[in-house]
Amino acid sequence: MNAQALIDTTRRLVADHKGLLAMDESTPTCNRRFAPLGIPQTEEARRLYRELIVTTPGLGDYINGAILYDETIRQHTKDGFSFSDALGAAGVIPGIKVDIGATDLAAHPGEKITEGLDGLRNRLKEYFQMGARFAKWRAVITVGSGIPSSGCIEANAQALARYAALCQEEGLVPIVEPEVLMDGEHTLQRCAEVTEEVLRIVFKQLHAQRVLLEGMILKPNMVLPGLGCTTPTTLAAVADATVSCLRRTVPAAVQGVTFLSGGQSAELASARLNAMNLAFKSRLPWALAFSFARAVQQPALEIWRGEEANVVAAQQALLHRLRCNHAACRGEYDAAQESPAV
Ligand code: 13P
Repeated sequence: MNAQALIDTTRRLVADHKGLLAMDESTPTCNRRFAPLGIPQTEEARRLYRELIVTTPGLGDYINGAILYDETIRQHTKDGFSFSDALGAAGVIPGIKVDIGATDLAAHPGEKITEGLDGLRNRLKEYFQMGARFAKWRAVITVGSGIPSSGCIEANAQALARYAALCQEEGLVPIVEPEVLMDGEHTLQRCAEVTEEVLRIVFKQLHAQRVLLEGMILKPNMVLPGLGCTTPTTLAAVADATVSCLRRTVPAAVQGVTFLSGGQSAELASARLNAMNLAFKSRLPWALAFSFARAVQQPALEIWRGEEANVVAAQQALLHRLRCNHAACRGEYDAAQESPAV
C-alpha cells in the first residue's frame, strides 16, 4: 500500500469545497430512472446519457471526482475517448462502484447485505488499469419495527471494512457508504440513533481491518425523518442532528465526508448541506461535501428525455445543481440561486 498516494488522492477528492458526482447507477437502476421519462432502456441510451454528463463543459469547476459503473467505465464518447479519459481531461478523477448490490440477509427478514467481495482484488486491479483512482461500496440499513438488527449492522460494516482494506492495497481510495434509508415512518431522532450506531460499528470494523483513515472518504446519509414521518423538520434540526452524529463517531483523521442524497429533492439536499457548513464549517475536522446522484442528475435527466436537441439544456441544468452544491460546501448557497435552469 502506498499510503502517501492514497492520502494525496483523498485530499484532491475533497479539495476546494468541491464534491463528487455519483453517476454509478447499476443497469437496472438506470433503466428504472429512464422508464418513467420514456427513454429507451438500452446500452446505447445509457451511453448517450453518460456522455452528456462527462462532456458537460465546466464540470471540473464544481466536482473533483465522478463515480462510474462497470458498464460505463468501459464505454467511450462518440469521439472515441474512454469516459475515464474524458473526465480526466476535465480535471475530474474517475472512480468506480465495486459492490454488486444488496441482497436479502439470511435469517434477517426485511434486511439486506451488500455483496461483491469475491474476486474483488482482481476487479480492483483491472479498474486501476482503466484509470479509476477511487471506489465506492454501498451498504443499506433499513429502519423499521425491531430493525436494524445488530447482525445486519455488523455484517455490512465488516464487508465495508474488508472492501476498504482491499481498495487501499490496490491503490484506490475507498468511499465507505453506509446508507440508513429514508423509507419508513421513523422520526429524525430515530434516524439519529440508528446512524450513530451504524457509524460507530463501521469505524470499529475499519479499525479492525487496518484501514488508513486519512486515505478514505465517508459517504453517509444525512440525519432525516423517514419519508412517512408526519412531524415537520427544519434545516437547523437536520444540520444539528447530522453534525452531532458525525462528531460523535467520525475520527478527525478522516479528511472528507461526502453525503448521498437518498431521495431528497435537489433543492432540499443543497439547502441542508449548506445549513451544516454555514453553522459548523469552521469547527469541523473534515470537509462536508456532496456525492449526490439523484439530487444532481434528476433535473437534467428530466430535460434530456433521450433527445439530442435537449443535450445542452440538460448540461446547463446539471451544472446549475453542481454550482448550487459547490456553494453549499462553502455555506454560501441561497435558495434565490434557484432560478429556472435554462
Ligand atoms: P443518491 O444521491 O441518489 O442517494 O445516490 C448516491 C449514491 O451513490 C447511492 O449509492
